[in-house]
Amino acid sequence: MRQDFESLSSIGATRGGGVSRPTFSAAHTAARRWFLSRAESAGLGTHIDAAGNQSAVLRTRPSQYARVLMLGSHLDSVPGGGRYDGALGVVAALHVLIAFKQAGGELPFDLEAIDFTDEEGTLVGLLGSKAIAGTLTPEILESARGGHEALTAGLKQAGLSKERLFQARRDPGSLAGYLELHIEQGSRLEREKVQIGVVTAIVGSRSFLIVLRGSGGHAGTTPMDQRRDAAVAAARAILAVREIAVRDFPGSVATIGDVRLEPGAFNVVAGLARLALEFRSQDADELDAMESAVLGAIRFSGEAEGIDVETHAAGSWQPTGLDPRMCDATERAASALGLTIKRLTSGAGHDAQALASITPSGMIFVPSVGGVSHDPRELTAWDDCVNGANVLLGTVQELARR
Ligand code: GLV
Ligand code: MN
Ligand code: MN
Repeated sequence: MRQDFESLSSIGATRGGGVSRPTFSAAHTAARRWFLSRAESAGLGTHIDAAGNQSAVLRTRPSQYARVLMLGSHLDSVPGGGRYDGALGVVAALHVLIAFKQAGGELPFDLEAIDFTDEEGTLVGLLGSKAIAGTLTPEILESARGGHEALTAGLKQAGLSKERLFQARRDPGSLAGYLELHIEQGSRLEREKVQIGVVTAIVGSRSFLIVLRGSGGHAGTTPMDQRRDAAVAAARAILAVREIAVRDFPGSVATIGDVRLEPGAFNVVAGLARLALEFRSQDADELDAMESAVLGAIRFSGEAEGIDVETHAAGSWQPTGLDPRMCDATERAASALGLTIKRLTSGAGHDAQALASITPSGMIFVPSVGGVSHDPRELTAWDDCVNGANVLLGTVQELARR
């Protein structure tokens, strides 16, 4: 497994020791090719669906009507991301299939190791898993957070189409469940010196594209008191968003992760600013409250500078509870291996939250050094990666016994 993990980490490798594999980039496409050819060389079946999700399949029973237990994660990354986010779960899933293939014997379900399309949201976010769950809608595609043109171009280049994505939907009756191994991306396990996290729930999130429209102008000749400067409104908005999150929504988070000014030059007052806003909470009502508070504050920031404010919804996930029986099965598997366990929630989004709407879903976390993620410094000790893979395998065995 380590050899495979290292091979995969070399695809799209960045100088800081991470990987950059945004959805459908050359590096992402190469990583996906690597996955399918590795599955084939292991003697597993392979399959690509209408949403571009890629699977390795192990049929453990003669019946073609057996349900399938899916194990997976994603091979795409954020720009300039780390090597573990998503990739560890895919490689471990593949190796669980290889282990069962080598051991032989029947299970009460078939096994599928799946690499979901666009988990990170370069284009949409949870695109492949929502398509499988049947929760992808034309409206979600219309408001794609990476922009509509990028979505259309990316799908075309991957040989996919917007219309056909919906055909990836699976019949819930065909599924025995979904399990995902992932790095924690936070520091709770490390701080408490715990080896395995059993995830009970995943955070909800909403994202918005904010457009601030002011007036451009000459930076030397437009008097300071006659400006409608979109950059200044953006600065006000960024500070207001942080203040609201900290003051009124402790435990929740709000981020403006990208700012683009137009036209963007030393000597031109910015006439336009585009902001990428995202906020997250474990509670659905709190998400509603955050939405009105945060968007209200941004409008106020614009008005204070004489700027027009547009807000465009650009994606959302509901806070999601994971299946208690899956949690119990993972806990039994980890205990049997003598590993220490903590139940926790996830502040990061995951494909499991899309799958949870159609099949019992569970997640296993392993510690992240320093809690660092979405950064090239992302690191999980190799022993912890192995522990996580063994717990994934053990959870499959627990479910098979049930
Ligand atoms: C995905 O990693 C997310 O939480 O944005
Ligand atoms: Mn991930
Ligand atoms: Mn991620």
